[in-house]
Amino acid sequence: MEKRRLGNSELVVNPVGLGCMGFSHASGDPMEKTAAVRTLREAFDIGYDFYDTAEAYTGVYPDGSISYNEELVGEAIHGIRDKVVLVTKMGVSHNPDRSLRLDSSPATIRKSVERSLKKLNTDHIDLYFQHRIDPKMEPEMVAETMGELIREGKIRAWGISETTEEYLRRAHAVCPVTAIENRYSMMARWHENLFSVCEELNVAYIAFSPMANGFLTGKYTPDTKFEGAQDYRPGMPQYTKEGYAKAKGLLELLTDLAAKKNATMGQLSLAWMINKKPYIVPIPGSRKPDRLRENFASANIILTKDEIAAIDAALDTMSFDVFGGHSGK
Ligand SMILES: NC(=O)c1ccc[n+]([C@@H]2O[C@H](COP(=O)([O-])OP(=O)(O)OC[C@H]3O[C@@H](n4cnc5c(N)ncnc54)[C@H](OP(=O)(O)O)[C@@H]3O)[C@@H](O)[C@H]2O)c1
Repeated sequence: MEKRRLGNSELVVNPVGLGCMGFSHASGDPMEKTAAVRTLREAFDIGYDFYDTAEAYTGVYPDGSISYNEELVGEAIHGIRDKVVLVTKMGVSHNPDRSLRLDSSPATIRKSVERSLKKLNTDHIDLYFQHRIDPKMEPEMVAETMGELIREGKIRAWGISETTEEYLRRAHAVCPVTAIENRYSMMARWHENLFSVCEELNVAYIAFSPMANGFLTGKYTPDTKFEGAQDYRPGMPQYTKEGYAKAKGLLELLTDLAAKKNATMGQLSLAWMINKKPYIVPIPGSRKPDRLRENFASANIILTKDEIAAIDAALDTMSFDVFGGHSGK
């Protein structure tokens, strides 16, 4: 498995990164702390060297205390800090109704970076993302602050999550952007227009929710009971009866392709994007070591240009309702 250099930076990682969010947030009630740290560390032994967390990834333990995802990651990478690329994000917090509060003012970026360094128990962050565009802040202002943090050695590189082309270009002109982190999966292809921009500017594309929140593994149905009330999936369009019915053709396609490649459906969905572009790094998340192993091994599956084009042509004929947007006609 050949490593990938992230954009203009010195950061080099395996083609599949680790989405750490689910240990605390949105993929079930938070996992018990000791088990979570153990599993996050096991991921390194499997081969993961890219840990994606965020200040906003929190959940509530049964005793009412808070699971801070950054703390779990910081503890898990103790002793291997220099062997992993540590990624976190600022600029988002959650309202009680799960909607997002956005704040990327310079003062908040500065406060957030200090909080994250403390929680992660490190003196630098390798890749620091603006988690969401804050409409109150110009991209130039955010880029300037990120540039200052790079010069101060607090972060090594920066990126933007859920960016648009215009925002990326304006920010990049002030302080070069190493990576974007946008939603991307077989069900969510609406950011493909950014590929040519990533190529032109030499920016990596970190693909979040790369299996459409687990849906593309084929292991879930609308009747699935998730692991606790803090799981966001029961409300997601792809997990409703109608959404599931709409995706029937895709699940059949994946079943067929997976059998041909002697792989699982989830692996096929990741291999599709890894083979498509050398600068895409999917970051699937799982709290289960067997699944972490399965997802990581998707980088060993080879798909030719023709095979990818045939999959894309099939996807073009389909239409999906998926969390974050709508794909197709
Ligand atoms: N930048 C952003 O705004 C943003 C937004 C969302 C997510 N992210 C990042 O992207 C990462 C991944 O996104 P995601 O968690 O939303 O979506 P995902 O990776 O598409 O799906 C994760 C879900 O699928 C399940 N799963 C994973 N591997 C599986 C397998 N092999 N078989 C069956 N089920 C499997 C996991 O459950 P189990 O744990 O039970 O296996 C988990 O609930 C997050 O951890 C986070 O770091 C970033």
